[in-house]
Amino acid sequence: MSQMNGRSVTLLLLFLLLLGILYVYITQSYRMILCSPDNEETKDTGYAGEAIVHNHELQMPLDDLQYKQPSITQGRTDVVTVTPWLAPIIWEGTFNPVLLDSIYKPKNISIAVTVFAVGKYIMFLKNFLETAEQHFFIGYRVHVYVFTDRPNEVPDFKMAAGRQLSVRSVPSSNRWQEISARRMELIQMLIEEKLYGNSDYIFCLDVDSKFHDRWGTESLGGLVAVIHPGYYRDDRSRFPYERRTISKAYMAAGVGDFYYCGGAFGGRLKDVHLLAKTCRSNFEADAKEGVEAAWQEESHLNRYMWINKPSKVLSPEYLWQDFKERNSEIHIIRFSGVVKNYAAIRPNQ
Ligand SMILES: *[C@@H]1O[C@H](CO)[C@@H](O)[C@H](O)[C@H]1NC(C)=O
Repeated sequence: MSQMNGRSVTLLLLFLLLLGILYVYITQSYRMILCSPDNEETKDTGYAGEAIVHNHELQMPLDDLQYKQPSITQGRTDVVTVTPWLAPIIWEGTFNPVLLDSIYKPKNISIAVTVFAVGKYIMFLKNFLETAEQHFFIGYRVHVYVFTDRPNEVPDFKMAAGRQLSVRSVPSSNRWQEISARRMELIQMLIEEKLYGNSDYIFCLDVDSKFHDRWGTESLGGLVAVIHPGYYRDDRSRFPYERRTISKAYMAAGVGDFYYCGGAFGGRLKDVHLLAKTCRSNFEADAKEGVEAAWQEESHLNRYMWINKPSKVLSPEYLWQDFKERNSEIHIIRFSGVVKNYAAIRPNQ
C-alpha cells in the first residue's frame, strides 16, 4: 500500500512538472509575440517606414483602422515623389493622413516651432498664430517660440490644450540681413538650452506667412527641407545659389539638387542643431571676410542641404507665395508667404 502511495506521489510530481514546463513554454511564446524585435523601441529617424516599427500596438491597434488599400502601380504621375537619394517628396495624394496620425499619435511627440517677428514683422504674427492653431499639427503637443524685439506687441493669444507659446526677446537691428543672420545662432541656442529633452522635432518658419490647410505628421523626418515655389520648374543654372567662390555658401555651376526655402525647414533636433551650427559658423566666416551670401542664410542652407541631403523633402505646397498663380500640380496650398510691401516693413532695402 505504501509502495502504491509512493508511486502515485511520483506520478503526481511528474504531472505537475510537465504542467509547469507547459506553462513556461506558453507564456514564453506569448511574450515572444508581443516583444518580437519588430516591436522593440528603436529610435525613429523620421522615416515613416521606421515609424511603423515603433508603433505601440497595444495602445492603438492598426487592425481596427479602415483605410484604402495602398497601390503599388497607381498614384501621382504628374510629379516626382522620391529624390534620387530616395527621400520621399511630399505632395497631396502621396500619403494617408489618418494612417500617419494613427502611427504617430501613440508616440506622444512634441513639436517646437521657431518664428522671428523682429521690427515691423510683428504685424504678421497674429495671422501666423491663428492659422497655425487651425492647421499645424492639430492634436499634437506644439510649442511655438516667438523671437521678437517687441515682446509687448505679441498678441494676447489663447492656444488649444497641449499647445504653448513662449516669447524670447532679441535685440533690434537696423538691417534685415542681420536679423536673418542671427536666426541660425538663436535656433542653435534654443535647441541646446530648452529643447533637448523636451521636444522631438523642430520647424523653423517665416512669420510673414500663414497656414491654409493641413501641415502634419507627413512632414516629419530627420532633416526636412521645403522646395522653393519660385524655382521648382527651373534648370539649376537659374537657381539663385551663391556663385562666388569666396563665400562658404558657394555652389559651382552644374551642381545642386533643388532650390530650398530659407523660410521653412526642420526635422529632428540633432539634425537641425547641426544645420544651424554649421550655417552659423559659415555665415560668420563669410562676415569676417566682408562677404554676405546672395540670399544670406538661405544660401548657406542650400549649400548645407546639398552636402547633407534631406531625408524628407516637402513640395512647394508647404511654402507657396500668395502672389503666385497656383500651378496644376499644386492640389493644395498648405502654407504660403503673404503678399507684402517690403518698403513698408524692412528697415532697409
Ligand atoms: C505626453 O507627454 C507629456 C510630457 O512628457 C506628458 O505630460 C503627458 O502625460 C504625455 N501624455 C500621454 C498620453 O502619455
